[in-house]
Amino acid sequence: MSEAHDPAAGTLAADPDQAREAVVEAALGKLDLDSKTRLLAGQDMWSLPAMPQIGLGSLVMSDGPIGVRGVRWTADDPSIALPSPTALAATWDPELARRAGVLLAQEARRKGVHVLLAPTVNLHRSPLGGRHFEAYSEDPYLTGEIGTGYVRGVQSGGVGTTVKHFVANDAETDRFTVNNVVSERALRELYLAPFERIVANARPWGIMTAYNQVNGTTMTEHRRLVQDVLRGEWGFDGFNVSDWMAARSTVGAIEGGLDVAMPGPHTVYGEALAAAVRAGGVDEATVDEAVRNVLRLAARVGVLEGAEPVVAEAPGEVDGVELAREIARRAFVLVRNEPVGSGTSSEPVEGGGRALPLDPAGVRKVALLGAAARDARVLGGGSATVFPERVVSPLDGLTAALPEGTVAYAVGADPSDELAVAGQGFTLRAICRDAAGNVLGEGKLPSGQVQWIGDDLPEGVTREALHSIEVTGTFRPRESGEHSFGTRGIGGYRLTVAGEVLFDGEQPLNSEADPFEAFFGAPVERGRIALTEGEEVEVSLRYTLPEGPAAPVFGVMFSLMHLGPRRDADELIAEAVEAARDADAAVVVVATTERVESEGFDRKDLRLPGRQDDLVRAVAAANPRTIVVVNSGSPVELPWRDEVAAVLLSWFPGQEGGAALAEVLLGEDEPGGRLPTTWGTFEDAPVTEVVPTEGELRYDEGVFIGYRAWEQAGRTPSYAFGHGLGYTDWTYESIEASGTTVQVTLRNSGTRAGRETVQLYVAPTTPDPNRPSRWLAGFATATAAPGETVTVTIEVPPRTFETWTDAGWHRNTGPYEVHAAHSLTDIRLTTTLTI
Ligand code: BGC
Repeated sequence: MSEAHDPAAGTLAADPDQAREAVVEAALGKLDLDSKTRLLAGQDMWSLPAMPQIGLGSLVMSDGPIGVRGVRWTADDPSIALPSPTALAATWDPELARRAGVLLAQEARRKGVHVLLAPTVNLHRSPLGGRHFEAYSEDPYLTGEIGTGYVRGVQSGGVGTTVKHFVANDAETDRFTVNNVVSERALRELYLAPFERIVANARPWGIMTAYNQVNGTTMTEHRRLVQDVLRGEWGFDGFNVSDWMAARSTVGAIEGGLDVAMPGPHTVYGEALAAAVRAGGVDEATVDEAVRNVLRLAARVGVLEGAEPVVAEAPGEVDGVELAREIARRAFVLVRNEPVGSGTSSEPVEGGGRALPLDPAGVRKVALLGAAARDARVLGGGSATVFPERVVSPLDGLTAALPEGTVAYAVGADPSDELAVAGQGFTLRAICRDAAGNVLGEGKLPSGQVQWIGDDLPEGVTREALHSIEVTGTFRPRESGEHSFGTRGIGGYRLTVAGEVLFDGEQPLNSEADPFEAFFGAPVERGRIALTEGEEVEVSLRYTLPEGPAAPVFGVMFSLMHLGPRRDADELIAEAVEAARDADAAVVVVATTERVESEGFDRKDLRLPGRQDDLVRAVAAANPRTIVVVNSGSPVELPWRDEVAAVLLSWFPGQEGGAALAEVLLGEDEPGGRLPTTWGTFEDAPVTEVVPTEGELRYDEGVFIGYRAWEQAGRTPSYAFGHGLGYTDWTYESIEASGTTVQVTLRNSGTRAGRETVQLYVAPTTPDPNRPSRWLAGFATATAAPGETVTVTIEVPPRTFETWTDAGWHRNTGPYEVHAAHSLTDIRLTTTLTI
């Protein structure tokens, strides 16, 4: 026996993987059946139980993907909020994704988290997908590359990842039960492909199996895809955790290769699994295999005594605020930037006469318009929510970057006429009481939202004693007029504002709704009251927990909601137009809301909510230098796009978004993003369906999604895959292919330093109706000073030329055209390649 297989000498062994295996085997050998099944059942919302008898600490998991929330779902424990995953993918830079991962590992360590529940590598199949913002792209290769960088980064900090949601969880409607009917070829070439690539190139320590079924089998029991494909064919050796509450059957799940059912402890594992073994329904060796996977994870992250963690020392400190800002700048996609006639006395642009960048020295007045310019939407809703310490809005960012008095702000249009969580102007705390009215404890509340899950309760409060919570404090209005107050969540409420009881009653449970709908769903207005700007009033919302059968997971979730005085929509637009008329440039920030883009439901259309389209049109008519900033995580329709001077997509830009926006608008840096997904109208989008029919969602389009489908249908989107403008120009000079290595030489032919994403697409020279006309084969980033020439080398991976057939992967020998391109539809050079 080699030294590595001797448990006692495990840490001395030469191969650290083997050494950890030895410690894992020794620990496994000491666990009895009940301890094993208890470990697999989970301990609470986010962790697994410690097993001191084998030196195992408690493994802690947390969401992901734009930050690390930690075990508390509150703003008391803030996290860095990076830009949305769509934004990260728009950088087309796996190295930047790796750096994001390193920061997230640092955040995880700070919060005592061992495993991050991220990245999300499902595909943008339909633009309606509610979690579109949380996934990277419609292209499996780009998704796999960004995901690889991310996983490498997180794990280089000694923190595990769970690549999710395995597999085909590409929409939200009926997500717990939907049966996605997908051909094996589409699975292999599209939906499994990012997982395969990440497993091969980044060796993730975990995977999360999805809620949905694929071809009739629920993913937490999908033996073929998990055991045969993921573990067998690809050699994945990490742990497999269910999505939260996804595991449904004891025997089905363990036989299907599910290691851990979360959240614990009342899952299909635990006692039920031990009983199944004792009854002979499950082989104990199968349980051992699952425990082995968990212990291997514990060894890797350093919570199994005797095992050397993969990363013994945390890497050097990363400045999270700075990185959030850098990623935002690099992710912004400038999809339109037209010359503007110089009609003003001052010249607010740098050379070239295009709308952007603005010249900070030449700009006298900027009209900044839109509700999201002041109350920025920096992240998407659902489990991806984190609570940043601060948020820099576009108003904050531009005001700080320009001389005093330059920025004139007007709301213009509010995307939401619904109540939102009480935030601006509120100072709140939560007082917890027992049934007799005795105070048990108090919690800090940065907003009107209470989300306490499991035992995550304020000090001194237990779930047994807790009966009511009073959200109480003050509100200082920003505007005079009639203010609306309301609630969101199930339970009893008594709402008092300025001494007046606005509501005293119940909100009953709708048992059909997705759990996320209950706390991210529709707010209910409970009353209105006239208030005066700047005059503080007392506010109290007393909430009584609902009675009824105990839910599988204990949680206190409700919110105090508020909406300021509703002003006449035409009047708001007129006010914005007035501001725009008097300015050198008008910057309009349009946005989606939490009720449009979130986990738990899909979108119904791609329109911007409220009167925002009218606002843009009216402003554009008043000011030729109208720049629209689109603050959404996923595609929206821009029906006025040809009427404005510039359109900049900012995604959900993370906590530093406004600061990054100022830098890009004022030309300190260029917007670096390229579209990771086609932007087009709903009417033209070839694949949109997200609503199952009789429980089934058929992926009948096969391998034709995203740009593959747009090209097949012969339709022209608003903006093509890969599109995005910088502030300089590039001349592609030569392309050379030698085998599968392609070299592209390009020159910065503009007037300032810049960065170009060189994209390679391959196209079969003889069109084949069963294959897309072309697809992404590789990409690289070039940076150069004006006049400078650079050569990038791109290695095209073998999978580029393969299709899935009944007999497995088939290599389609060429010839192929290889395009070096600025975007899918802006091809600069072509060569031929034969495989
Ligand atoms: C989501 C997962 C998430 C989990 C825990 C689920 O609803 O689908 O992505 O990791 O909750 O918050």
